[in-house]
Amino acid sequence: MNAPTLDDVLSPPPGSAMWQPDFLFGAGTAAYQIEGAVAADGRLPCIWDTFAARPGAVRNGETAAVACDHYRLWQQDIDLAAGLGLDAYRLSISWSRVLREDGTPNPAGIDFYERVLDRLAHHGVKAFVTLYHWDLPQHIQDRGGWLNRDTGRRLADFADLASRRFGDRVATWATLNEPWCAAFLGHGSGLHAPGMADTRYAVEAMHHLLLGHGHAMAALRANGAQRVGLVTNVTAVSADSPSPADQHAVRLARACYNQWVMDPLLLGSYPEELQELWPGVRPIVHDGDMQVIASTMDFIGINYYFRANVRSDGAHGYTDKGLDRVERTLMGWEVYPAGLRDVLIGFKGRYPTLPPVYITENGMASDDVVADGRVDDAQRVRYLQRHLVAIDQALHAGVDVQGYFAWSLLDNFEWSEGYAKRFGLVHVDYATQARTPKDSALALKAFLERRRAQGVISGRSS
Ligand code: FCB
Repeated sequence: MNAPTLDDVLSPPPGSAMWQPDFLFGAGTAAYQIEGAVAADGRLPCIWDTFAARPGAVRNGETAAVACDHYRLWQQDIDLAAGLGLDAYRLSISWSRVLREDGTPNPAGIDFYERVLDRLAHHGVKAFVTLYHWDLPQHIQDRGGWLNRDTGRRLADFADLASRRFGDRVATWATLNEPWCAAFLGHGSGLHAPGMADTRYAVEAMHHLLLGHGHAMAALRANGAQRVGLVTNVTAVSADSPSPADQHAVRLARACYNQWVMDPLLLGSYPEELQELWPGVRPIVHDGDMQVIASTMDFIGINYYFRANVRSDGAHGYTDKGLDRVERTLMGWEVYPAGLRDVLIGFKGRYPTLPPVYITENGMASDDVVADGRVDDAQRVRYLQRHLVAIDQALHAGVDVQGYFAWSLLDNFEWSEGYAKRFGLVHVDYATQARTPKDSALALKAFLERRRAQGVISGRSS
């Protein structure tokens, strides 16, 4: 193997809190994107099975029927994560694997996650569990899905079961992954399951997702969970010009991308700007809903990938015009690390009760190939490195960031993009299911080894 070059080195700035062992480094996955085995052991269909079967919904008609076959290869995958020296691993639990339609538990599905969690515990890797990473059981969709208020109660049932069965092995619980995507891409633009395309649906779905989050938090806490929160995706927003119209467009875009989720959780209200964007469209809010939604969280997970550069659309909206001549990833997403620093600092200013933050996803897609047993993904190493620097700047500005999770441990089923967009630290050959750690995985491993060695030298326990 070639000697590592400067591009292959990951290293937070000297003296950064990221060198301390209590700043967690991890990698994430989601059940639907890696498990495959969609009909095994009593697993029920979910909305992504249905959506992916719809012609044109997923690029090249690909499905997650096999994905990374993690349902069978889980042990080697967990061992791989532990072998990289990760402090923590973020996974999600497939709702339709663990709960039957009549609400009774499915023992085979529960066994699977018990094995995974036991293996993580065996390696001393902390489990960060997300309950809902977009894979709603189809039978719940058939009763209205997130357009039905009752679905929030069903999420709480799922949270209750999961925390009773797995609670002793879970470090943190996130109720939802990226409600923005579930609400907007799933119900407003139709790009994600269940494939609905009406802003009124998106607004209603968001309210029920957030309500479900509140109910699920209560269920988790009732079963003794100590660290409970939610994971949201955020977007950095800049103005295409200094014109007042474009500055206003920035406010509208921030309201939609970030505050639509963050404001109800941390301020107990939806941002007024949404009324300008979507006049007359409001969720049906019952008395007490906003209190449920705004229950205190122990942490918030922030997923950050890119920036939007917006201008006014001439009416009461914005368009993401993007910027020319900037670095982009295979997704077409701009690489803009400073945006992560800026959104974190902005949140600290806007939300007096901002809880501790984990960066629960950050990473990039490329079309990596294995050559001579190696995957040269220098762009990803630089991407991760530059985002660590941005987080360090946020730490210096007083934002309480406590951990960083690369997305993803493995190349996987990237939703409507199928398999071509490889986000993994570890390459997956879908024909053979061979795993090959990319240079980025090796760089992360090398950094974590250096950090441990340094901790030992300075007498700290790692
Ligand atoms: C996020 C999702 C995650 C993955 C990354 C690339 O929106 O949470 O599952 O697909 O994007």
